[in-house]
Amino acid sequence: MQFKILEIMTKEKTNPKNSTFTKFDNEGNIRHDYNSLADSITALPVLSSSVIQLVSFTEKSNETDIEDVLSIINDDQSLTSHVLRVANASKYAKMVKSDTLTDAIQLLGLEKVRDVALASSFMGNLLDPYSKGFNWEAFWKHSISVGIISSLIAKFLGREDFEKFYTAGLLHDMGKVGAFCIDEKNMLLVAKKAREHKISMIQAELMTEAPRHDLLGHAICKRWNLPEYIGQVCRNHHNISRNQRNISMTDSHNDFIDVVILANYLVHKIGLGYSGHNSTENGIEEVLEYLEINNQDLKKIEELAKNEIKQSGGMMELLG
Ligand SMILES: [Fe+2]
Ligand SMILES: [Fe+2]
Repeated sequence: MQFKILEIMTKEKTNPKNSTFTKFDNEGNIRHDYNSLADSITALPVLSSSVIQLVSFTEKSNETDIEDVLSIINDDQSLTSHVLRVANASKYAKMVKSDTLTDAIQLLGLEKVRDVALASSFMGNLLDPYSKGFNWEAFWKHSISVGIISSLIAKFLGREDFEKFYTAGLLHDMGKVGAFCIDEKNMLLVAKKAREHKISMIQAELMTEAPRHDLLGHAICKRWNLPEYIGQVCRNHHNISRNQRNISMTDSHNDFIDVVILANYLVHKIGLGYSGHNSTENGIEEVLEYLEINNQDLKKIEELAKNEIKQSGGMMELLG
């Protein structure tokens, strides 16, 4: 694979946009300034401040006051109507009609409300689901599936903080959204190369010398003051070996990274959504070893994942 990429690289280097944030080193290689790139993003649809607040509420749900949640949602008209619409959708409320936000939140539960908020924030803002040459609805389905399966694996491993794994999984690829916000054309070109050559987005980014979505995602996390575990997952979710990561082999963030890598692998294997490419990661055995998951457990997890995704089907359909 390495050889194939090098071969393509020599033929297909794209012309990266002449940007203030792109420098050349002594050998003429492109060096992107990820912090400045992240600073240049004025709005990232997936991360409005109300959504960030809701996400952090769900991570410590036993301390959450429903009044706080209400006040966040009340400030956002389109979010309020989305939550009410979902609460009244037949899958969640066959008998009860939710006229007020309080009813709706009680009926749906905080986690579903967070999902609605994330979905409506992501799909309702900037990214028209099918236009602009990228299927953002399928990308969202990919992200949400990685979130669901990450939290499922965390539960399987007995982690009490499984909601954090959901958030980390959901946001692992947000560098791709960031790349789109910075330079739409270039990001779409990278996705096209990934499809054409049947390689992953990260390989296509290296091939075209475009900004890498893992490093960009990490810079965005720092810029938005998101918790360190999310930043580390963004940065390292393509570094399968712990010794390729920028943290020590025993750092506790490795667990988040390993789980999201496994979830990402399963989502590609099962064929859920679309992340810009169709190739699966090699060398997943190493991650299984770190997590002490044997092949029998992996089969169990895959079955559980398929079921869980089926049950959350309603959420995916809300995006239209
Ligand atoms: Fe990725
Ligand atoms: Fe992904």
